[in-house]
Amino acid sequence: MCGIVGYIGKKEAFPIIIKGLKWLEYRGYDSAGVALLNGSLEVYKKKGKVIDLEEFASEKNNGGSLGIGHTRWATHGEPNDENAHPHVSMEGMFTLVHNGIIENYAELKEDLIKHGYRFNSETDTEVLANLVEYFYKQSSEINSETAVQLALSKVVGAYGIAVLCSEEKDKMVVARKGSPLVVGLGNKEYFVASDAAPIAEFTSQVVYLNDEDIAVITRNSFTLKNVQNTPVSLKISNLDLEIGELDKGEYEHFMLKEIYEQPKTIEETFRGRLRHDQSEIVLGGLINIFPKIEKAERIIIIGCGTSWHAALIGEYMLEEYAQIPVEVEYASEFRYRKPVLGENDVVILISQSGETADTLAALELAKSKGATVLGICNVVGSTLARETDAGVYTHAGIEIGVASTKAFTAQVTVLTMFALKMAKARKKIDTEEYQMLVKELSEIPEKGRLILENNENIKTIAEKYKDAINALYLGRGYLFPVALEGALKLKEISYIHAEGYAAGEMKHGPIALVDDNLPVVVVAPKDDYYEKIVSNIQEVKARKGNVIAIVTEGDVVLKEMANDIIEIPDSHPAVAPLLSVIPLQMLAYHIALMRGCNVDQPRNLAKSVTVE
Ligand code: AGP
Repeated sequence: MCGIVGYIGKKEAFPIIIKGLKWLEYRGYDSAGVALLNGSLEVYKKKGKVIDLEEFASEKNNGGSLGIGHTRWATHGEPNDENAHPHVSMEGMFTLVHNGIIENYAELKEDLIKHGYRFNSETDTEVLANLVEYFYKQSSEINSETAVQLALSKVVGAYGIAVLCSEEKDKMVVARKGSPLVVGLGNKEYFVASDAAPIAEFTSQVVYLNDEDIAVITRNSFTLKNVQNTPVSLKISNLDLEIGELDKGEYEHFMLKEIYEQPKTIEETFRGRLRHDQSEIVLGGLINIFPKIEKAERIIIIGCGTSWHAALIGEYMLEEYAQIPVEVEYASEFRYRKPVLGENDVVILISQSGETADTLAALELAKSKGATVLGICNVVGSTLARETDAGVYTHAGIEIGVASTKAFTAQVTVLTMFALKMAKARKKIDTEEYQMLVKELSEIPEKGRLILENNENIKTIAEKYKDAINALYLGRGYLFPVALEGALKLKEISYIHAEGYAAGEMKHGPIALVDDNLPVVVVAPKDDYYEKIVSNIQEVKARKGNVIAIVTEGDVVLKEMANDIIEIPDSHPAVAPLLSVIPLQMLAYHIALMRGCNVDQPRNLAKSVTVE
């Protein structure tokens, strides 16, 4: 949450920062701001989107080759101009942008007030700016990096910060704890950002800051130390990221573009991993560690939101085919429980961003218990990717829409490959079934393309239900997590209250909700549960509920019974989630659009949840 961009070098900083903030806007879009140090300090900030800031600051004095910028997801204080970052210290010596939460800010603020400090905003960040200034003023021996280091030593909480000092005009200080920061190394120029996307067009040499690192950057130097003031050696990584342009192409929204990309992204996910001769599945990132993984006594899969839904599908697959006990946990619960686990357990953390605070905390906990920790992650070089013992990238490409779509299908693709690989290694699956499933998986992209051709039909259905107040999503087996995911998509972008349920649970409560106003989306392609889910549909119909059924092509029974149907191509049940989720994403998209909602940037949300 919140995106940070910084630049120091010889180019104009303003356009680089604005473009970078546009890349990072998925992290928060309540307000945006920029500070430029060019002789004098100029700070511009605005409630609203980066484009509002760009318009506002374009006419102003925005020259200079040193600056920092921020796009905010509000934690302390409502989204307005005053609470927008950058924050300037009381005497104007320090300007700071921050991602994270200073948990002891109230206590620090009280002390600063006693020392005569006054505040203009409700934010924890302004407290930090003043604290840095306070230390700076204690002695002429204290430079800006020492002041930052002293201030951070007093801070409890999480931070990614970039700091400018008006009295040291050729320097930027950046630091992290819990909130990601990466520094791109150019020729006498440096780029700072919350993730690598804004940097990729300028350089492929990057340094990922670790927790408690403080980087001191001038046009001619880059040094690292930590909050304890001990020098830290530089680890330069090669950034292997193809990002293209931040461009919606022919689509109206990033979410729609990402829905349509799925046949291609699923192919990218299994490219080079799923062999055409249906022999070994190759997951390069796991090769060295696989002999240990295949002997695991138990697997625990952890994630949040959509990633947690993918984890549930992984559980079903691993238990069915690899016959290994699997548990699925919400990261936010796991991290605070007292889970029993040890070195014979494998913990898989799933995260699109690789920066979700709860998931990273769960990772640390699992590590501390001696478990083998693996990551399934989309963002190359993210904290999750760097902190796990091994992992698999999903290769879905950058996902900008806050509602996750292509990342989900990529995660499920990785989990399917992993489950099949485990099943084979553990000799729990015969060759014929294994090859059949590999083939089924390899056919998903082509079948997915056919579903996308159904757009107009889905739009017509959306029109009928766009004014609903509540909606129910039902599924069984592999399709229960799909029902959960469909409901999440609808609620996060259309603000319609939607519940996902295992269809068999209906009679234990949710059936009380059914009346002639309730749309009930039932994920019901032909599988072993088909007869049972048909009965569930009958029960809904008997109570006058409106059934929208996702069915296998040519299903005449449900065509008669349901109010609306969306057909999907026939597939094996184990890979059916990859197909059946697509119409649910499209339905949510069209309904949200018809309700006038901001599909790519829904209210109150941010894509990367880096605070708990
Ligand atoms: C998905 O549509 C959501 N925006 C959200 O639930 C998301 O999946 C969750 O925050 C986890 O993010 P991660 O995969 O980046 O860890």
